[in-house]
Amino acid sequence: MIATGQLEELLENILSRYGYDFTGYSRASLKRRIDGFYVKGRFTSFADMQRRLMDSTAYFMYFVEEVTVNVTEMFRDPAFYQTLREKILPVLATYPFIRIWHAGCSTGEEVYSMAILLKEANLLHKSILYATDLNQAVIEKAKTGIYPINTMQQNSVNYIRSGGKEDFSGYYHANYNLAKFDEGLAEKMIFSTHNLVSDSSFNLFQLILCRNVLIYFERDLQKRVLELFDQSLDSLGFLAMGSKESLRFSSIASHYQQIENKEKIWRKSR
Ligand SMILES: C[S@@+](CC[C@H](N)C(=O)[O-])C[C@H]1O[C@@H](n2cnc3c(N)ncnc32)[C@H](O)[C@@H]1O
Repeated sequence: MIATGQLEELLENILSRYGYDFTGYSRASLKRRIDGFYVKGRFTSFADMQRRLMDSTAYFMYFVEEVTVNVTEMFRDPAFYQTLREKILPVLATYPFIRIWHAGCSTGEEVYSMAILLKEANLLHKSILYATDLNQAVIEKAKTGIYPINTMQQNSVNYIRSGGKEDFSGYYHANYNLAKFDEGLAEKMIFSTHNLVSDSSFNLFQLILCRNVLIYFERDLQKRVLELFDQSLDSLGFLAMGSKESLRFSSIASHYQQIENKEKIWRKSR
């Protein structure tokens, strides 16, 4: 296992060699992931692991894949999506166009869920969904729109719980053990890598979703990322976070109002 001092040394070396800054990540979970990486890689020592990481960009990218938590599913927390359907989309419907940013989109299930909601609300044609993640591998996967067929049953259950009324299997084509979502859903999606720690704002959005990402960051980094979202959100725009996340402690809190006590969705004031 890696000692605390070694972990800090590794994070500093990664930052200076590759520009990826993990120093603001929550230590407990980051250390667990890096310990797991160390064991899986069968390194003989910490120095051995560090050497491998510093010597090869490809190997470092594999490290990024392994240490970030990419767990996701479609219509995750169905009640959240029901609130989007019933409370947020009717407001967005009044706008001439809708720009949405999925920050930390992982393998894209969240983005396909949103495209389905927008299609059912007849809003997809005037929407653009920007979907970003720091991990290049998950972005490549998201671009394919292909998922294991055995996840579709749970996706379908979540879809119905979120208020979906259509036949969920109508949104994808099954081929052996894979399901590919209709290309029409992906037409308005733009996938790209973007690091919330170091990259800047790139557009102005009416809705930003950053769910189950800030939970891995320490408070100071959470505050900085929330400021980035504030700069990227149109006035009266919506910011949606994960069930265990909040903006209450941050400097932007005073000009945001939570739209429903239960769901983590805030609206920016004018
Ligand atoms: C647990 S997943 C959440 C996926 C999805 N938003 C959801 O709620 O199901 C967290 C994602 O955040 C991404 N992530 C972690 N650090 C990031 C950073 N600095 N910038 C952008 N994305 C990051 C990870 O690569 C991972 O795909």
